[in-house]
Amino acid sequence: MSSPYLTLTVVELTQETPDAVTIHFERHDRQAVSCLPGQFLTLILPCGPGGKKERRAYSLSSTPSEAPRLAVTVKRVAGGLMSNYLLDTVQVGQQLEVMAPIGNFTLTPQPGAARSVVLVGAGSGITPLMSMLKAVLREEPQSQVLLVYGNRNEESVIFAEQLRRLEQQYAGRLQVEHVYSQPKGPVTAHQHTGRLNRTMLLRILEQRHSFPPAQAEYYLCGPEGMMLEAQAALELLGVPASRIRRESFVAAAEATETAAAQPHGHGDVSAATTDEGASLTRTVTIHYEGAEYQFAVEPNQTILEAALDQDIDLPYSCQAGLCTACRGKCLSGKVHLDEREGLSDAEMNQGYVLTCVGHPLTSDVVIEIG
Ligand SMILES: Cc1cc2nc3c(=O)[nH]c(=O)nc-3n(C[C@H](O)[C@H](O)[C@H](O)COP(=O)(O)OP(=O)(O)OC[C@H]3O[C@@H](n4cnc5c(N)ncnc54)[C@H](O)[C@@H]3O)c2cc1C
Ligand code: FES
Repeated sequence: MSSPYLTLTVVELTQETPDAVTIHFERHDRQAVSCLPGQFLTLILPCGPGGKKERRAYSLSSTPSEAPRLAVTVKRVAGGLMSNYLLDTVQVGQQLEVMAPIGNFTLTPQPGAARSVVLVGAGSGITPLMSMLKAVLREEPQSQVLLVYGNRNEESVIFAEQLRRLEQQYAGRLQVEHVYSQPKGPVTAHQHTGRLNRTMLLRILEQRHSFPPAQAEYYLCGPEGMMLEAQAALELLGVPASRIRRESFVAAAEATETAAAQPHGHGDVSAATTDEGASLTRTVTIHYEGAEYQFAVEPNQTILEAALDQDIDLPYSCQAGLCTACRGKCLSGKVHLDEREGLSDAEMNQGYVLTCVGHPLTSDVVIEIG
């Protein structure tokens, strides 16, 4: 198995807004890095207390056809360790350690397709949508794209100029509808004032008569509240759930739920309570890259935290149950997940768990990673 780690060189920086920068990278040998539109890179930087290395996920805003270049676009989060470090210190020529692109929130271009793709995003949630948008426009000449993009005002629109140019270049195939919660000036055509909620989305989608909304494909990325509103609107329009994909950048407290994973074929998945077995130290066995690791997990420690404490180099990125970089299959025992946003129901049923939010509930937990 090839190493998931890469060193990339910063080759250009684009200031998108006062609070967002696009960082363009290349490998030193200018080889293309394999990726799909919508996937993310994990940046590993010494931005923690005392220079401790931290990891954060950043979606690619570039598309595979821009190879050998890759780009991520980072928006400043107040008080955030990595976003501020990057916005304040990153420089052309700097080398950064990253984990290669991964992620399931992807769109695979199909050159013969003639489809309608609707992208709904807010703030930094535009990044994976931008990658998908460019890929569809370039590689699917008969497909059309609608982007509904929510921001506070005109000045906080990431990729504003690039979107304007793409709308001209792909006139009739790309439509961008901007939604501003607090616009600075008067709104013009294809601009809307208010929140990007279900009423707004319904109004925008119903204005488009060129395709039946139930037959489009939807990709959502933004704050949890916006995505729930969008899902409610799409349900009202009769859009099947299988046509809706979503990605979260931040763990939503209300999305936290109890889940128990059991190996496929070992009976039903049972709903564990948080108390059941969670107050004991348990031994966990992990199989990863041909090695077997056994270690104790204290109560209130996640499986990943316990492994890292033992200097076991397991894969991870967001540490919040969102990105699936730490995903493994539970071969025996029971695991409680604090968050399961990153896992589909099918993955849960097959016994997949996320070590970064997983706690062993029994003493026989065995997890296979990779
Ligand atoms: C799959 C995935 C893809 C992502 N892609 C992008 C991307 O393309 N561009 C981008 O800018 N970010 C992206 N993120 C978010 C990114 O990984 C970091 O979480 C973000 O930059 C904050 O990191 P930080 O170290 O600055 O803040 P931290 O030090 O981790 O956090 C500081 C505080 O801010 C809160 N917080 C974290 N993120 C946000 C947020 N987005 N909005 C509001 N509050 C927040 C935290 O809960 C914490 O309380 C992505 C996350 C995931 C899981
Ligand atoms: S590290 Fe992202 S889901 Fe576990």
